[in-house]
Amino acid sequence: MRIFLIGFMGSGKSVIGKKLASELNLEFLDLDTLLEEKYKMTIPGIFEKFGEMQFRELETLTLKATILSDNFVLSCGGGTPCFNNNMSLINNSGFSIYIKMDKDSLSERLLKSKTKRPLLKDLTLETLPEKVEQMLKIREEFYSQAHITLDGEGLSVEKIVKSLPEKQ
Ligand code: S3P
Repeated sequence: MRIFLIGFMGSGKSVIGKKLASELNLEFLDLDTLLEEKYKMTIPGIFEKFGEMQFRELETLTLKATILSDNFVLSCGGGTPCFNNNMSLINNSGFSIYIKMDKDSLSERLLKSKTKRPLLKDLTLETLPEKVEQMLKIREEFYSQAHITLDGEGLSVEKIVKSLPEKQ
């Protein structure tokens, strides 16, 4: 079974993904972490040195390499589904779950988050919500292709498990 968690930065993919993997006895994987390990650089470092276009290529390569294995819950990067036909790749390889949140909840969580996110750097309480809204508008087209969409607010592992199809 391959489960892919997708959604905007700050939607809680990794936190819930770890719990879900443990509940289902699957390996938990985080695409950003896999990228950092593979290229021995941090995500901000990759953006800084190579730019976003190249980051997206490395991200797709890492996704493709990950899909060679099985029995995992993969927390994708927020932008993963939106580039290089990755969403079709995801949907054809396993079960995808969009963890959906509105711009205000996301902005609130992102302002508190310690993770460094190059695409949001230098944004403030005043400017972040608008940026999140703009990005969500573009990304929703891809996120909405997920097999199921779950409300990220108060999301529990039990709710996810109940939403999984009988057989993967
Ligand atoms: C990105 C999301 C990040 C990371 C990179 C780009 C995006 O992952 O892949 O900073 O384009 O939304 P998280 O969603 O885990 O923060």
